[in-house]
Amino acid sequence: MLADKRILLIIGGGIAAFKSLDLIRRLREQGATVVPVLTKAGEEFVTPLSASALAAQKVYRDLFDLTDEAEMGHIELSRAADLVVVAPATADLMAKMAHGHANDLASTLLMATDKRVLIAPAMNVRMWEHPATQRNLATLQGDGVLVVGPDEGAMACGEFGPGRMAEVPEIVAAVSAALSDGPLKGRHVLVTSGPTHEPIDPVRYIANRSSGAQGTALAAALRDLGAKVSFVTGPASVPPPAGVAVIRVETAREMAGAVKAALPADAAVFAAAVADWRVENAAAQKMKKDGTGRLPSLEFAENPDILAGIARMGEGRPRLVVGFAAETERVEAHATAKRARKGCDWIVANDVSPGTGIMGGAENAVTLITEAGAEAWPRLSKAETARRLALRIAEALA
Ligand code: C5P
Repeated sequence: MLADKRILLIIGGGIAAFKSLDLIRRLREQGATVVPVLTKAGEEFVTPLSASALAAQKVYRDLFDLTDEAEMGHIELSRAADLVVVAPATADLMAKMAHGHANDLASTLLMATDKRVLIAPAMNVRMWEHPATQRNLATLQGDGVLVVGPDEGAMACGEFGPGRMAEVPEIVAAVSAALSDGPLKGRHVLVTSGPTHEPIDPVRYIANRSSGAQGTALAAALRDLGAKVSFVTGPASVPPPAGVAVIRVETAREMAGAVKAALPADAAVFAAAVADWRVENAAAQKMKKDGTGRLPSLEFAENPDILAGIARMGEGRPRLVVGFAAETERVEAHATAKRARKGCDWIVANDVSPGTGIMGGAENAVTLITEAGAEAWPRLSKAETARRLALRIAEALA
């Protein structure tokens, strides 16, 4: 909830500005006060009247209007907010921010504010990928500016690729995370999730039944406690949560690389169902029946154990390393042995034997194995299991 939060929303000049009107409504639904600021270009896409009516606030547009009226100076306007949101953040606005321009109301507010700034970039894919924009992005991130999106997809200009503004629920989640004073604020937590796909040839692969539901719920719960979450996911059947950094991978080896690249982290939770083996003789071209009735034979190689690798990495190891164990019998004994074998701090064990309905289902019944022993938790929704686990992680990192 965003009750009593005041958000200064700068609407830049891009076609995605129409979504910013909905953003105003959704933020207000959460209890926030939204004060809109329109750039000159923004006014070409949405009218001040629409923004003002939806926000139930005066809309600010002109630097000199503010100064002349002395009603509320730009310094005061920029500081009265709890968070400054720029949506859409155009290539031009990002460039101005990165270089410290202050030649209109929006850029001056961004220079004068003492609050956090969250940008939702939106632009043509070429403009997004242009080295100048990527340089500006790196500068802004270095300055502590928070970034949500852009998403990949079809764009109004007819091209396809990254550059679409993040969807409104994702921006609302990022706003909540930015304003959250949760116990994990300032912490970085890495979560792996979903199955991996190990190719046999370019069109076939070996996979498993993991839906990614528990890992996704956990990433959302950690985000809700204020953590910055890096979510490394295989091809899951549930979408990743909003407001986390999503890194998509297919194979175990790609997952291992993505995990290393996402470090350092304060905690790492390995909820992914990683394939133990990959096909070593995967074919470069689609395998064909050769008419002789002979069957192809697959050779397997062992995949890297990502959890064990991180748990035993020595310097740079996250303070808390948590593994999952999906077992079908003698859950506690197997999971306790696994904790020792992998070198992790905790194991979250569950019984995935077919009768339980846990794999791919909405509920989970876990046993948490720590140094102190085993704790059996009641059968709970995956969301509640995630919330309790996130709270325990927060306690451990406190
Ligand atoms: O050995 P097992 O697959 O049962 O261990 C499960 C735990 O190890 C999970 O946390 C899983 O994410 C992790 N794991 C991994 N890399 C592998 C295999 C498992 O990170 N190659």
